[in-house]
Amino acid sequence: MALSTTDVDISAIKPGQSVTVVWRGKPVFVRHRLPEEIADAAKVNTADLREPETDTQRAKKPEWLVLIGVCTHLGCVPLGQKPADPKGEFGGWFCPCHGSHYDTSGRIRKGPAPSNLPVPPYQFTTDTTVRIG
Ligand code: FES
Repeated sequence: MALSTTDVDISAIKPGQSVTVVWRGKPVFVRHRLPEEIADAAKVNTADLREPETDTQRAKKPEWLVLIGVCTHLGCVPLGQKPADPKGEFGGWFCPCHGSHYDTSGRIRKGPAPSNLPVPPYQFTTDTTVRIG
């Protein structure tokens, strides 16, 4: 089980920034969310969602979102990690393959992807370290 966990130093990730790390060969998105992104994610009526999950089910700490960055349609890596990337109609991530839009909680909102970007197992091992896996 070499590299079954990945430790991420989050101390330098400023609000509004995201980093991509690799865990078990997959990209994992770690986003330091802005207050408005958290508010947008929280106010969604889960009855409107293809895969109903509240934001608090998906984020252990509201300001940090940890997602497996693999589109649930055909497995592309969605755009939205870099400041200049398109983030889709719901402000999170956009997969240009066939146009899947994810919100600021990584939930599928529009397009062909069947489910939300998965949340990997993770924990905060210190205030500035996230252990994925
Ligand atoms: S792989 Fe993302 S929309 Fe097709």
